Amino acid sequence: MKFDKQFTFGTATSSYQIEGAAAEGGRTPSIWDMFCDIPGRVYKQHNGDVACDHYHRFEEDVQHIKRLGVDTYRFSIAWPRIFPEKGKYNQEGMDFYKKLAARLTEEGIKPAVTLYHWDLPMWAHEEGGWVNRESVEWFLDYARVCFTELDAVVDSWITHNEPWCAGFLGYHQGVHAPGHTNMDEAVKAVHHMLVSHGKAVEMLKKEFASETEIGITLNLSPVYAKTDSANDALAANNADGYSNRWFLDPVFKGEYPKDMMNLFSKYVHSYDFIKEGDMEAISVECDFFGINYYSRGIVEFSAATDFLHRGAYSDYEKTGMGWDIAPNEFKDLIRRLRAEYTQLPIIITENGAAYDDVVENGRVHDKERTDYVEKHLQAVSDLNEEGMNIAGYYLWSLMDNFEWSFGYDKRFGILYVDFDTQERIWKDSAYRYAEIIRDHKKSHNLQAEVAQ
Ligand code: FCB
Repeated sequence: MKFDKQFTFGTATSSYQIEGAAAEGGRTPSIWDMFCDIPGRVYKQHNGDVACDHYHRFEEDVQHIKRLGVDTYRFSIAWPRIFPEKGKYNQEGMDFYKKLAARLTEEGIKPAVTLYHWDLPMWAHEEGGWVNRESVEWFLDYARVCFTELDAVVDSWITHNEPWCAGFLGYHQGVHAPGHTNMDEAVKAVHHMLVSHGKAVEMLKKEFASETEIGITLNLSPVYAKTDSANDALAANNADGYSNRWFLDPVFKGEYPKDMMNLFSKYVHSYDFIKEGDMEAISVECDFFGINYYSRGIVEFSAATDFLHRGAYSDYEKTGMGWDIAPNEFKDLIRRLRAEYTQLPIIITENGAAYDDVVENGRVHDKERTDYVEKHLQAVSDLNEEGMNIAGYYLWSLMDNFEWSFGYDKRFGILYVDFDTQERIWKDSAYRYAEIIRDHKKSHNLQAEVAQ
């Protein structure tokens, strides 16, 4: 594999998944604290109260990041640390991120900061959460203080992480916080997230006249039909609409896909929540496009489901999540984005895999994860040879953490975390990632100061 000199390597985490210190520094609960408390929602009722205790151990974690040799580290800000109550700014919460960003910068690691990685404050939820259009204003108030306090040290901003998960898993499928199962709410929630994205981008560029790069991250999954029957083709079109086009079309074309508006209208009885100017706001020009890629989808027709598709059997090799390992389909996805949607630099803001790791004599031989990462990095390298302009890659995740409804049962880290002692142990994949980065730097005569 080969990468341009400017290509950036990184690793990623998010606030609720690693920080812990849930009741410290003035933080109040988010929808995830609430959701974790409801029996049956999260594996063994795990929660983020302690997580990786990163809030107290961030200095040690920065040292691990440095040792990996990555150029950049992607983390998110916990909104309820910044606004623990409506309209009440908490400087102590902000200071944590200022310290973190400063430590990273001192070590030559560029901070890439996500504003919303799903931890909506409970006060906002109690007023309707993302379903309430006022959420756009709440988000902008939050974005404004983040820009004010951190823009000078932040290398790139990501407004939202995966509005599909926050919106559709959270408000339609009910498997993520806040756990609602209401498609009308889900479509409104997504709309408000997207409007808040567009307006935050405009704010950074106009109000702050900032040149810091900003974009949004979508999780995309190319969808294939089980057979070439007309029905399966319809199923694949609908699944693609639900997972991908509902987000790509507004962001890049300034419109929702008509076929999906039609399909969703079974539940969405009015689209009046789309106000004048909204679609222009959503499709604001960004500096890059973030993609989280994990797997492909394969579907078949099902008259029994709402949107006429269901997952079909796949004989692909799978990760510990049961997700198909599909680096070739990742290439299809990128080529399609270039053909149909955008020429912006693409950044892979997440890619990685969960496996059932075991520690043996202080080592974790996670060959499968290492293979997964190598295959996807090879795909990035191949795509760039084709001129696809992928500017960077973030491995998910720096360390094992709270994997949402799977709790601590699924390990995505390249550092193993012993959740009893909080010890971090480098897995083989971490050593291999450091080696790939070191080789890259050597090949371009860039200074490499990374682990052997
Ligand atoms: C993505 C999320 C991230 C993590 C990975 C495995 O959907 O953005 O927080 O859970 O999946």
